[in-house]
Amino acid sequence: MKRTILGLLVLGSLALAQADGAKLYAQCAGCHQATGQGLPGAFPPLAGHVSEVLNLKGGREYLILVLLNGLQGPIEVKGMKYNGAMPAYGQLKDEEIAALLNHISTAWGDDKKVKGFKPFTADEVKALRSKKLTPQQVLEERKKIGLK
Ligand code: HEC
Repeated sequence: MKRTILGLLVLGSLALAQADGAKLYAQCAGCHQATGQGLPGAFPPLAGHVSEVLNLKGGREYLILVLLNGLQGPIEVKGMKYNGAMPAYGQLKDEEIAALLNHISTAWGDDKKVKGFKPFTADEVKALRSKKLTPQQVLEERKKIGLK
């Protein structure tokens, strides 16, 4: 009996330790909207665009860099121009950033458009933390992977 209770406690705390990407996304929804559609000309869409990024070589790392460091400068998404600022979320934990990226990859079916999609892990985020970039340098990374 004692063992069962202990087991349940351990399982319970593990579940709590798992970051909830859908909940965390609430802090993105003000700009990118709950539907991931963004606002044309102001905030780029994530729905249907995350897969475009993930299908580029280096796209996966790029998405992690955006969340860690932010992004600033003129970009184009699905033929629409944007020139705003995406805030950095480096204050979040590695597992929270991974959960957020998994949320925006799966919430609108983008993962289905990426061959062999693998969920983001906290370790991948951790590995890119030391590469501290300015939001303008993230824009350079964006160009390097072939986005306009
Ligand atoms: C204050 C508004 C705002 C908030 C909040 C915000 N973003 Fe952004 N995001 C932007 C803008 C604006 C851009 C485009 C920046 C530019 O024009 O250079 C962007 C760009 C991005 C990009 C890169 C798209 C690309 O094509 O390069 C991703 C990915 C992204 N945001 C995800 C998120 C996630 C996930 C969150 C929540 C943790 C979030 N954003 C919160 C405004 C916001």
